[in-house]
Amino acid sequence: MSKEEESREVLPTKEYYNPKMGNYQEVYRRSIEEPDRFWQDQSKILDWFKGFDEVLDDSNPPFYRWFKGGKLNLSYNAVDRHVKMHRRNKAAYIWIAENGEEKIITYDGLYRRVNNFAKALLDMGMKKGDRVVIYLPMILEAPVALLACARIGVIFSFVFAGFGAGALADRIKDSGAKMVITSDGANRSGKVIDLKGIVDEALEQTSSVGTVVVVKRTGNSVNMEEGRDIWWHDVVKDGQAYVDPEWMDSTDPLYILYTSGTTGKPKGVLHSTGGYGVWVASTLKWAFDPQEDDRWWCAADIGWVTGHSYIVFAPLILGLTSIMYEGAITYPAPDRMWEIIERYRVNILYTSPTAIRTLMRYGEKYPRMHDLSTLKTLGTVGEPINPSAWKWYYENIGYSRCPIIDTYWQTETGGFAIAPSLNLGLPPLKPGSATFPMPGIEPTILTDSGKEVKPNEKGFIVYNRPWPGMFMTLYNDPERFKSVYFEKFKGKYYCGDYAVKDSDGYYWLLGRADEVLNVSGHRLGTIEVEDALITSQEVAEAAVFGKPDEVKGEVIVAFVVVKESAADDRDIVPKLRKRIREDLGPVYVPEEIHIVKSLPKTRSGKIMRRVVKAVALGQVPGDISTLENSASVDEVKAAIEEFKKVAKN
Ligand code: WTA
Repeated sequence: MSKEEESREVLPTKEYYNPKMGNYQEVYRRSIEEPDRFWQDQSKILDWFKGFDEVLDDSNPPFYRWFKGGKLNLSYNAVDRHVKMHRRNKAAYIWIAENGEEKIITYDGLYRRVNNFAKALLDMGMKKGDRVVIYLPMILEAPVALLACARIGVIFSFVFAGFGAGALADRIKDSGAKMVITSDGANRSGKVIDLKGIVDEALEQTSSVGTVVVVKRTGNSVNMEEGRDIWWHDVVKDGQAYVDPEWMDSTDPLYILYTSGTTGKPKGVLHSTGGYGVWVASTLKWAFDPQEDDRWWCAADIGWVTGHSYIVFAPLILGLTSIMYEGAITYPAPDRMWEIIERYRVNILYTSPTAIRTLMRYGEKYPRMHDLSTLKTLGTVGEPINPSAWKWYYENIGYSRCPIIDTYWQTETGGFAIAPSLNLGLPPLKPGSATFPMPGIEPTILTDSGKEVKPNEKGFIVYNRPWPGMFMTLYNDPERFKSVYFEKFKGKYYCGDYAVKDSDGYYWLLGRADEVLNVSGHRLGTIEVEDALITSQEVAEAAVFGKPDEVKGEVIVAFVVVKESAADDRDIVPKLRKRIREDLGPVYVPEEIHIVKSLPKTRSGKIMRRVVKAVALGQVPGDISTLENSASVDEVKAAIEEFKKVAKN
């Protein structure tokens, strides 16, 4: 048995596993064979102001339009409808600050805050179709801002608060945002990150923003520019506002979320209103089957798609109570997550393999300090989970009682694409497999030439048909939308991942097939790091790639050729690190930067990143006969040897 096959073991059947998988097969079959009727029924998970005329308009592929003619508002679905019924006084969020303080906000409280802020946005001149960039930490104003934008039809673009000024400026420019919503700082591991300072720097590089709204969170002293910057608490003075929710078309955009690709600047993934709303609410229900009284904790950051879909829209549409935590999961101690689970009697925990591996490193001592018996279900997202982390999570956090819902999906899919379904019928789980597709998703695994692979053979995963949560396009770039996702395999959606389907029909996701990095579950582009390096005055050439890492999944490694003028600069590495931190943000800082005299290139002068990576990782670099400068391969080898020597000492 190969190592890979060995890890594909089936867990012993427990009472919650259903060998026949309950209704899953039947529901899935209907979603594929009678999609119109299926989605017509499923659309009732939302309240519509006006019913739609057509379930799917596929007249202009790949620009699919769902629930055409329907009118609705997602802020109405997330708050108004709950306020009119038994959920009025139910907690929507239990928010925990990094210092342990808590705030509980009911659906009624959320409704008031959303209305007040929506009114403030209107008063500041924002209107349907305008773009607003939100650059906030994990505080309650974040969901309030998202919902207030959705209420009045403003397209929001959330930028993860771990991104630097350059990354923020690019997103402001591409979206043409008129406003930025930020805070005076973010609390992270006991330190304050000066978000407002980063916004000020980004705005020096852009010209579209007229207003900056600043939430007071840390008391950090900030510069408030007269006529441009205004405090959140000064704009929401009217405590009793009501704003009619805008009747949005189902196909009106809800938000843009930038994500990394293989080439060029990050791509603005544009999501719809109706299709996205139906998809996120349906998938959360199918996969995790949350109950009315459950406490749901999605421990992601709101700045990534996981937070958009499963901290904000899906749980609120379903009327759930969510835990929201402000800070780092190891602060002040590595039992932070377990302590929160015990204190708030959390029922469902949804986190990432990196978080699990990080906490696993600290040992069982920390989870043992707490009563975790309220947990019923565990989930993971963001990267392939290795079987040993899966088992640790299963045994030490779930005490072998809680199924693990491994959800495979992407910013582009809007919500889960492949995941076990607790609500429809759970299959026997296999550690490391995301199991079966959600209803409506029809995956196939193909060879490079587009032929279907045999069971247990690795290939490229594609989806054969559109699904409601599918993004509508790339903002400002419909051509790139078509070429990146629909050209490699004509007419099929290409995910960019490798996968295997085993002989029982289970899907195993094996990581990216392109040069997109996955560092701690964060999707980053090699090209972005290379660009940041090359635009530094000292750098002539750069090659960046991901190196496998036991905890983070991958870490970033850079090989850099410096210009003559910087050849004697002994501080070059820390300088470059600092530059990347400020420009792109701390998540992008390479773990290793190697300075070399030359990089392997083709005769036409293209840097062969693939060769650098193979040589650096001690693998066979494949065909290098087209190399212009084979001596550079020895340089890469020598740099790595030197690095290992230094690291040892
Ligand atoms: C990877 C995050 C294996 C995959 C929701 C995908 C996964 C990329 C899983 C999307 C999983 C996400 N198993 N791989 N359960 N979940 N991925 O857009 O490579 O930030 O293409 O969306 O993460 O990352 P994104």
